[in-house]
Amino acid sequence: MKTIIEPFRIKSVEPIRMTTRAERARLIRESHFNLFGLHSDDVLIDLLTDSGTGAMSAAQWGAVMRGDESYAGSPSFFRFRDAVQNLMPFRHIIPTHQGRAAEAILFSIFGGPGRVIPSNTHFDTTRGNIEASGALAHDLVIAEGRDPASEHPFKGNMDIARLDAYLAEHGDAVPVVMLTITNNAGGGQPVSLENIRAVAATARAHGKPFFIDGCRFAENAWFIKTREPGQQDRSIPEIVRDCFADADGMTMSAKKDGFANIGGWLALNDDDLAEQARAHLIRTEGFPTYGGLSGRDLEAIAQGLSEIVDEDYLRYRIRTNEYIVERLSAMGVPVVRPAGGHAVFIDARGWLTHIDPLSYPGQALAVALYEIGGIRSCEIGTVMFGRQPDGTEVPAAMDLVRLAIPRRTYTQSHADFIVEAFGELAEMRDSLRGYRIAWEPKLMRHFTCRFEKLAG
Ligand code: F0G
Repeated sequence: MKTIIEPFRIKSVEPIRMTTRAERARLIRESHFNLFGLHSDDVLIDLLTDSGTGAMSAAQWGAVMRGDESYAGSPSFFRFRDAVQNLMPFRHIIPTHQGRAAEAILFSIFGGPGRVIPSNTHFDTTRGNIEASGALAHDLVIAEGRDPASEHPFKGNMDIARLDAYLAEHGDAVPVVMLTITNNAGGGQPVSLENIRAVAATARAHGKPFFIDGCRFAENAWFIKTREPGQQDRSIPEIVRDCFADADGMTMSAKKDGFANIGGWLALNDDDLAEQARAHLIRTEGFPTYGGLSGRDLEAIAQGLSEIVDEDYLRYRIRTNEYIVERLSAMGVPVVRPAGGHAVFIDARGWLTHIDPLSYPGQALAVALYEIGGIRSCEIGTVMFGRQPDGTEVPAAMDLVRLAIPRRTYTQSHADFIVEAFGELAEMRDSLRGYRIAWEPKLMRHFTCRFEKLAG
């Protein structure tokens, strides 16, 4: 059979509240054209994020009931720790309430004024935590990773020559080398195993620790299995273990490839760093056998980690994105190619060429998509990354709109509905207008800033 089906049946459903286009036009205006301001029951298909929005399995809900809520030494912690170490064999596994809490702890140790931290592309919370510590974050992804049309199979790869030169130039100012798999902010593009090993070797040659932001490690492993020479006959857990084998630690959001609605961890090998991290954890998150989580969350993650590496799931997961990308491409909508792991990315700058990057073409596209189809997406471009630490504003590398696909949540007809909405959008794209930011906070402005639509 050629059709790749959702490899699950649905036992429990959540109704979607239908809205009209006129209602949505009013609702988004009342939210100052910021999609984060909408109530989620005013959204038909919520593609704002794939983070914590997935459907848990019957086995996960069963595991929830087993959660042991003891303050110290809960068996749920040990099941969680063992499940993590089965895939990522780091010495210390430190649970946090989500990925950014792990980042905050990491950069309370590694950050600080005068320091600089390279990655392929830092995600916004990683960058936010680095900058809040007074350090600077730099992105060194390969050139193909910035070209939406390039068909390079591993567009998330780090530019090894640039990393080497960067480490030679900045020397003592670099406390750690980071790598995000998959590269979310760069289009959900994977990093090859060869590149992961090369980053590790380059960091080691300069005497620097190497940490992976592993949020979407299973999707990344699927791309390695299907695209990297010599990996086809290997199991996903084997590939995952290889990805982390040369790293000194990782940060993780279990809301992605942990298949959970909340959770994360910081993992590392160094005993002294682990002690510092646990001291911070106790002060800000909780005792080291629960971090910021309840026992039932730890159980859901432990079970989720055994499900996320299932090949039938990963095949269906990646195929869903490819299907949407193929259909949008056929309609002439410029999309980041090849399809990414967790999301479909629209090249808004390339499609809405009449809107200047500093008038946020991605925001214009995201607002119109909500008005037309009730679809909530997310700008990943100049709104998110344009504001510099010195207060100036420059266009981001790309102006993308992300349709993040929650795990096991929507079906094929939802995908067809999304494609249909783009058909309508194509008809009216010349009439879309840019925006200006009327108010913004100092850091991570995209969550709360207010927009005004520009006139004609
Ligand atoms: N790193 C990456 C690559 C991420 O995508 C995220 C979250 C985080 C770290 C932080 O994890 O949310 O658990 O604190 N990304 C979500 C998204 C929010 O929509 O892409 P968190």
